[in-house]
Amino acid sequence: MADVRFAKLVVFVNALIPLALLLWDLYRKQAGPNPLEFATRTTGMMTLIFLSLTVAITPLRKIFGINSLVKVRRMLGLFAFFYGSLHLLTYVWFDRLFNLISIGPDVVQRPFILAGMTAFVLMVPLAITSTNKMVKRLGGKQWARLHRLVYVSAIAAVVHYWMLVKSDTRLPLTFGFILLFLLAYRLFARYAPAQQPSSGTNIFRRE
Ligand code: HEM
Repeated sequence: MADVRFAKLVVFVNALIPLALLLWDLYRKQAGPNPLEFATRTTGMMTLIFLSLTVAITPLRKIFGINSLVKVRRMLGLFAFFYGSLHLLTYVWFDRLFNLISIGPDVVQRPFILAGMTAFVLMVPLAITSTNKMVKRLGGKQWARLHRLVYVSAIAAVVHYWMLVKSDTRLPLTFGFILLFLLAYRLFARYAPAQQPSSGTNIFRRE
């Protein structure tokens, strides 16, 4: 129990470091020639990283047999939502100058904004239903089904990133391949037989 609490504390503190560094860089005026763009890009990247980490937990747990990883999954997901909210805020602030009415037409006109908005909107029900109370209320099966939306959100996020990158697509494609691997793993886990005759553990077995 104390180990889990310590692990959660380590994740919590580490997850806040990028934000602290961003604020420090902005305060020291060391965020490059365009600090607003720097803030948007940093928060966008952190959202994608935390979203990918959240999706990676179950496969990592199965492959390496570290069951306690699941204890930090909710926190990672909530950090993805937290950085996503900051990212959206930077867009509404710096890109739209708080002209909320202009967001609708922008979503329609710029496909990468539509993809980003899709990724973010899909994270909202996941964040709302992340509490133990909501898991109980929905029932484990329904909750798990709803939370598969995280894959759709992550795919939309990678598409968003891939669309906005003008020339060097290596990084968005790397995220895309990682996500594809994690998704393929989950599908194998879903359809692989529950028992392997020769070995005791089946890393593809469902929870
Ligand atoms: C899950 C949700 C989202 C993720 C994971 C995400 C991720 C990213 C990433 C990785 C970048 C590029 C960072 C870089 O260049 O290093 C980015 C940039 C950007 N995102 Fe998002 N994003 C999300 C949602 C949104 C939403 C909802 C909006 C606005 C409606 C948005 C607007 C932008 C803009 C304006 C940029 C900067 C584009 C540029 O520099 O030309 N994103 N985002």
